[in-house]
Amino acid sequence: MGDIGTQPTPERALHIRPAGMDALLKPVHRWVWADAHRRAHKLLRFAETEADGGRDLTRAAELTRDALLRRLYLRHASDELRHADMFRKRGRTMLASLSRRGAGVEANWLAPGERGLDDLNVDHENDDTLLAFLHLSERAAAMRFAVYREVLAGDPDTRAVFETILRDEAFHMNYTRKQLERVSPRKHGVRLWMARLHRVGKLYLRFAAAFAGVMGALILGLQYFVVLPFFALAAKHAERRARVPSGWTSVASRSFSFRSQY
Ligand SMILES: [Fe+2]
Ligand SMILES: [Fe+2]
Repeated sequence: MGDIGTQPTPERALHIRPAGMDALLKPVHRWVWADAHRRAHKLLRFAETEADGGRDLTRAAELTRDALLRRLYLRHASDELRHADMFRKRGRTMLASLSRRGAGVEANWLAPGERGLDDLNVDHENDDTLLAFLHLSERAAAMRFAVYREVLAGDPDTRAVFETILRDEAFHMNYTRKQLERVSPRKHGVRLWMARLHRVGKLYLRFAAAFAGVMGALILGLQYFVVLPFFALAAKHAERRARVPSGWTSVASRSFSFRSQY
């Protein structure tokens, strides 16, 4: 069989270098991964995403009529489930060795793991649209994991986990591209652009939701700390001007009547 990306090429992972936003955000990633508690919790979160991806790929293998793709999807699914296992084990080992303390902010939107097929409904896709989406997703994951491998120099055990997983991600990235070219020789470029637009749309929605959350908290904070004190001051001022004595007041001076309550 010629090179249609059906065999892993471990050396490819060694050459994956972070690019674009991932390279620019390297100092941020370094900060995110610096805290051991956050690191452990992030690994456990990554384990969930990888396991989800594995389940989606098993479904994709059930749905495809292409025997080669079925074989590759099943292999891919078992890789993702193995990654889930590796992240879970490493996360639990780290948590067990750390003192009990809150995880703090995981910053998942800054340093996400492999998103897999979380943006896609496998049942509604064809082989080519699914492969295009998978290729971009695996490529993004490989770039991100390459950054994590670089910023985790101080934690060789976790770094080794990313190093091993990165080899599989390089294979996933490669085979999805080659298979897309095989099943859609004329339209693979268009499929990739459509998948890119889909991802940009999803990215915008994610950003908009996060932005709305931050703005909502900011506006509520401003109302509470800046606007409300003015109302409190105005109420005090009005109270002082009305000169209404506070608390219980004597009624001895009032005229007494059996006809009225007061
Ligand atoms: Fe993975
Ligand atoms: Fe993957």
